Amino acid sequence: MGEKRLVIEGKRPLQGTVQISGSKNSAVALIPAALLATGPSILENVPNIRDVKVFCEILRELGADIQHYPEEKRLVIRPNGFSSYRAPYEQVKRLRASYYLLGALLARFGRAEVALPGGCDIGIRPIDQHLKGFRSLGAEASLEHGIVKLSAKKMTGTQVYLDLVSVGATVNIMLAAVLAEGTTVIENAAKEPHIVDLANYLNAMGAKVQGAGTDVIRVRGVTSLQGCTHTIIPDDIEAGTYMLACVSAGGDLTVENVIPKHLDSICAKIVEMGAQVCDKGDSVRVISEHRPKAVTAKTLPYPGFPTDLQQPLVAVAARADGVSVIQETIYDNRFGYVNELIRMGASIKVDGRTAIVEGMPTLYGAPVHANDLRAGAALVIAGLGAEGETSVYRMEHVERGYDSMLDKLQAVGASVSIEEA
Ligand code: EPZ
Repeated sequence: MGEKRLVIEGKRPLQGTVQISGSKNSAVALIPAALLATGPSILENVPNIRDVKVFCEILRELGADIQHYPEEKRLVIRPNGFSSYRAPYEQVKRLRASYYLLGALLARFGRAEVALPGGCDIGIRPIDQHLKGFRSLGAEASLEHGIVKLSAKKMTGTQVYLDLVSVGATVNIMLAAVLAEGTTVIENAAKEPHIVDLANYLNAMGAKVQGAGTDVIRVRGVTSLQGCTHTIIPDDIEAGTYMLACVSAGGDLTVENVIPKHLDSICAKIVEMGAQVCDKGDSVRVISEHRPKAVTAKTLPYPGFPTDLQQPLVAVAARADGVSVIQETIYDNRFGYVNELIRMGASIKVDGRTAIVEGMPTLYGAPVHANDLRAGAALVIAGLGAEGETSVYRMEHVERGYDSMLDKLQAVGASVSIEEA
């Protein structure tokens, strides 16, 4: 695949409406959950992104019958032919969220052998809390030659206290517990919107999950689950990304098909930066007519400010009036992209998990490289507000999690094009 780059002519205000797609982080949890049912499920509002395509390829290789209709944003998943509890490295290395197969395969087959996901550009990302949950449910867990091996004669409901708030561990333990005998209580659980979305889908399949969205989730095991139809919630991180793009470039932008409640923390930050935000029920309008003001922010588990918008926020702060202080409390290494912003004229110092951003009146377009999904989004945001032309290389990273970004930006007046090296 050639090196794809997004070429941006900056300083064009954004005007109009962006349709927000289904949540990536929900989709990658719901797809493995569908494998727990005895019959087919239909997922609606599925984002047309690479992570979804890759997950479908992995599951087809494991015997699942998955029909993907990208134009209709629909997935039809028939789990019957799904018979392998093994997911080899060649497949899972392409998608970190494949590790949700651990919980799903363990629940379905009492066994799971899934290659351990690699780290990535934002930190080590261990799965010790996932394994703690599986063991507590009665599974033997070992790591052999990079493969996580789980086996359980019987899965029995249990009490799990997560040592830290982990979205992945919460999802994986929910998946492993829904068909166990007895009740599982997950304490210190993650409360992200996509945890609630997963619980709603599982309950529609016949599970008995209570408390999702709070820090105590109760899962009463059932003997089987039936396939059903479920519409994925809108992607709050995609919505926040476009809202910050409007603050960076200026303009009047509405993100449509959102759940405003999920955007509370980003709306508050954008208002602090001096833009106007109007909640219109299922859309949010951002009006940004002046240079943004500096802010302080600290990433926290939901409902705090999301770590996935830390990079986009810093990109806006780089041009703000004043010094911004942005703390990253979730990951130990999520400032790698700062060097690329500095090449655009930003003045940023990183001290451990804190970025001190001295806002500059102007950023200058430059060729820059995206090392991960949200870093790429941050560089696009910086380019939209910069003087001259920016080329964001490795757009493949951005396409992992943003559905049709080029079309969506062009539709609101950005001067952008994709070029292949
Ligand atoms: C999910 O990752 C998201 N990915 C991430 O989004 C998101 O940044 C993160 O949640 C936090 O909201 C998906 O949902 C597919 P965690 P996850 O377990 O589940 C540590 C994006 O850009 N930890 O909540 O991996 C971990 O290292 C991606 O869309 C352990 O130490 O996140 C991290 O420092 C990036 N042991 C912190 O907890 C464990 O067993 C939070 O991780 C698990 C996690």
